Amino acid sequence: MLNYFDPSQHRIDPDRDYGTPARLSETAVALTIDGVEISVPEGTSVMRAAALAGITVPKLCASDNLEAFGSCRLCAVEIEGKRGYPASCTTPVAEGMEVHTQTGKLAKLRRNIMELYISDHPLDCLTCPANGDCELQDMAGAVGLRDVRYGFEGANHLDAETDASNPYFSFDPSKCIVCSRCVRACEEVQGTFALTIDGRGFDSKVAASQDEDFMDSECVSCGACVQACPTSTLMEKSVIEEGVPEHSVVTTCAYCGVGCSFKAEMKGDQLVRMVPYKGGDANHGHSCVKGRFAFGYATHKDRITEPMIRESIDQPWRTVSWEEAIDFSAKRLKGIQAEYGRESIGGITSSRCTNEETYLVQKLVRAGFGNNNTDTCARVCHSPTGYGLKTTIGESAGTQTFDSVMQADTILVIGANPTDAHPVFGSQLRRRLRQGATLIVVDPRRIDLLKTPHGSDSLHLPLKPGTNVAMINALAHVVVTEDLEDKAFIEKRCETDAYQAWRDFISEERNSPEALEAETGVSAELVRKAARAYANAGNGAIYYGLGVTEHSQGSTMVMGIANLAMATGNLGREGVGVNPLRGQNNVQGSCDMGSFPHELPGYQHVGDPAVRERFENLWHVKIDDEPGLRIPNMFDAAIAGHFKALYVQGEDIAQSDPNTQHVEQALTSLDCLIVQDIFLNETAKYAHVLLPGSTFLEKNGTFTNAERRINRVRKVMAPVAGKEDWEVTQDLANALGYPMNYSHPSEIMDEIAQLTPTFTGVSYDKLDELGSIQWPCNDEHPDGTPTMHEVDFPIGKGHFAITEYVATPERSTRRYPLLLTTGRILSQYNVGAQTRRTENSRWHEEDVLEIHPSDAELRGISDGDWLGVSSRVGQTVLRCRISDRMQPGVVYTTFHHPGSGANVITTDSSDWATNCPEYKVTAVQVEKVSQPSEWQKHFQSFDEQQQQYLENSKDESNFALK
Ligand code: SF4
Ligand code: SF4
Ligand code: SF4
Ligand code: FES
Repeated sequence: MLNYFDPSQHRIDPDRDYGTPARLSETAVALTIDGVEISVPEGTSVMRAAALAGITVPKLCASDNLEAFGSCRLCAVEIEGKRGYPASCTTPVAEGMEVHTQTGKLAKLRRNIMELYISDHPLDCLTCPANGDCELQDMAGAVGLRDVRYGFEGANHLDAETDASNPYFSFDPSKCIVCSRCVRACEEVQGTFALTIDGRGFDSKVAASQDEDFMDSECVSCGACVQACPTSTLMEKSVIEEGVPEHSVVTTCAYCGVGCSFKAEMKGDQLVRMVPYKGGDANHGHSCVKGRFAFGYATHKDRITEPMIRESIDQPWRTVSWEEAIDFSAKRLKGIQAEYGRESIGGITSSRCTNEETYLVQKLVRAGFGNNNTDTCARVCHSPTGYGLKTTIGESAGTQTFDSVMQADTILVIGANPTDAHPVFGSQLRRRLRQGATLIVVDPRRIDLLKTPHGSDSLHLPLKPGTNVAMINALAHVVVTEDLEDKAFIEKRCETDAYQAWRDFISEERNSPEALEAETGVSAELVRKAARAYANAGNGAIYYGLGVTEHSQGSTMVMGIANLAMATGNLGREGVGVNPLRGQNNVQGSCDMGSFPHELPGYQHVGDPAVRERFENLWHVKIDDEPGLRIPNMFDAAIAGHFKALYVQGEDIAQSDPNTQHVEQALTSLDCLIVQDIFLNETAKYAHVLLPGSTFLEKNGTFTNAERRINRVRKVMAPVAGKEDWEVTQDLANALGYPMNYSHPSEIMDEIAQLTPTFTGVSYDKLDELGSIQWPCNDEHPDGTPTMHEVDFPIGKGHFAITEYVATPERSTRRYPLLLTTGRILSQYNVGAQTRRTENSRWHEEDVLEIHPSDAELRGISDGDWLGVSSRVGQTVLRCRISDRMQPGVVYTTFHHPGSGANVITTDSSDWATNCPEYKVTAVQVEKVSQPSEWQKHFQSFDEQQQQYLENSKDESNFALK
């Protein structure tokens, strides 16, 4: 008998559709299907059991990522002892059941059903874009339908109009068989509920929102409905234009920290579509609009395709060979070090690049430059996570898998907006909320998660920006003083003295919700209710984002979160944990790979002689024992005149770092700025060397997502400039006289595994075998570690840290009475360099300033007005959007467009421990204006000049991209 519970007999094939979702029951049910005996988990459908036995039952309305619906009846089977022809997708297995899937009666029945479908379907298979990739066509073949008896003259839907409003997919209702898969995908997979079936019987039709165009509806363009559609009714425009793909490569999305796996589907060497990969452990076949559709930037005409150099930034670029560009860079770097000393140069790694590339840049700095002046963009996002989690629970990483949220009873989301910034995890979270989990949101804004359709009751704690630590202390105060602690966990897993000191501190009346009510702006009653809901949940899980870290007390807040989880015993098992939602695709990886100036790969301190010795033995070079400069220190040192050269790979510091004018001053102070990127970004406009970068589609490597999951990035197309990013770093190292001889990124990973205790078991072979690996992966955990801290913490016992609340100096005043907070939206990604060069811009053409109606009224401001936004460091002008998701006194904007200058206003106030900028709180004043700010005027003229320099350097023959 085939036994589903025996993994050697049943490996799930991610490329096969098993018809209905898997059931997790451990109770086995044995049955016979077409003479094949099989045992499967209780609750499994007959259709899935048949598929597991290798038997295919025809189907149209079923798919294994959706609950069975039973509408098409094509999957009818015969079951001994049962009357009629039950639908196999909606019939659960029963012990001893005998099923027949292929009988003469069933064949006739299925043919009749297909005949009815086809009689109201255009007969244009040969010219249909889905020809060869259409389930309806496949099923017609499978049931042996040869002709249709009814004729096509009667009432039909063949003239229904196509909705082409969405930039990425079209909806042609003439081909719709009203199977409802799209509607269910939107509800069950995505959780948006944008689609319905309107009308009844013959008049039934799919409608978006209130029968609107897709573009005007609530649709967020995730594409789940397109993927679910068994016909070409919902179809990617790229497939309509380019034709059905012929082959595919599994790779990983390069946008956010969810790390979705995709099949990049190709025709020849052209990428036709990205299909979320069902075998992806982070996304299970789902995606958002960015990963699925926004890949056109890779072949955008703005790509830098040849190396360029110039003596100074007021000169045009000169296109040169790779050899000349590398040689020029190396000579400049060596010359500067000879004149200004070893410490006068540094490098910045990027969370957009692979682990291997990041590892190589920091190695180049430490071994080739001979100093520790390496830092990463994680400095400006999650560096407090590193400090805070390491101090308390000993490891700088999220504790769970994303799937763990499906076991959580209460979900506490702090300073994060998952439906926009981590959309696929946001959908999963919503699924759990629909199952009844309680949601608590701590955020100044009323984020969309709070509006989850059919979600359970939720609590919103709309605190004032900058008061996170007061809030976490108040929550912990309730836990401690109302005796809601998990004493057994604390006693077994945590340091006693530190706990006692923390307990005394947190119990003080000044940390009570009542005492802090005026500070946080949230009623004590609500805080108490939230604390009880979290502490009394069987499983309480915390998810947090940049709204926690990007504060002057970012590290303190992270420690406060870890304290709360330890005090309630919410660590070390499924359904609980402390989970930083990492912003960019490889923030976790760039930190793991030793990008920070004080830590070698694996968070090993440069001051530790034993650590240094291991690296020195393998790298054959002496490593500096002093931490190097952080990014803000590099800027200050550049302005002061003793930091002279910088190598920046894949990071746009001129747009993403705070206090833009300060950054610009630092960049113009450099004698040599080497930028390696795919476009002429804002930083590159200040560069002397521009080295073409490669996109994730053009290289091999790995990314590590927010759940510590290492995923393979596989080359889909050749790099447009001939080199993958790691090869360029290697060339630069060799030109500097530090030899590097890797022939493939797998060799870099092998070196990482040798030097990084949490990676010793990681290799490309193992990644190919397992699909993905969550570190630590070593002798103790050979297949990785889905849940961390199950037995103990890397530091032994958990350490409660004292989290004294210190109000940010960035407070509202009479001069700057409003607090500005910044964030992201769904369709754009970070500085927007990629998404702005795709149709995603249709959803967000400009950054706007959101303001509460009462603040707008007070200032005589109307929706759409131009607003001057001033802080103590700068001024910019943004268009106004009046929004009641803001609270009075708080305004909000995004930073996806460089010309809007959001970071001209943000200050260099930063986290006390890590220098992570306080993007989330800037005191500002807002007033109506009629023209751009001085900075914007300067930005525009500088931009025009630099674009002209680039244009002049272009040799038509070398710019073959469209
Ligand atoms: S694209 Fe996504 S959000 Fe839009 S209708 Fe389809 S499933 Fe729903
Ligand atoms: S659009 Fe596609 S998925 Fe939706 S009901 Fe029609 S055929 Fe089914
Ligand atoms: S942007 Fe994030 S959620 Fe969207 S597809 Fe990519 S990894 Fe997944
Ligand atoms: S596939 Fe079972 S009823 Fe449609």
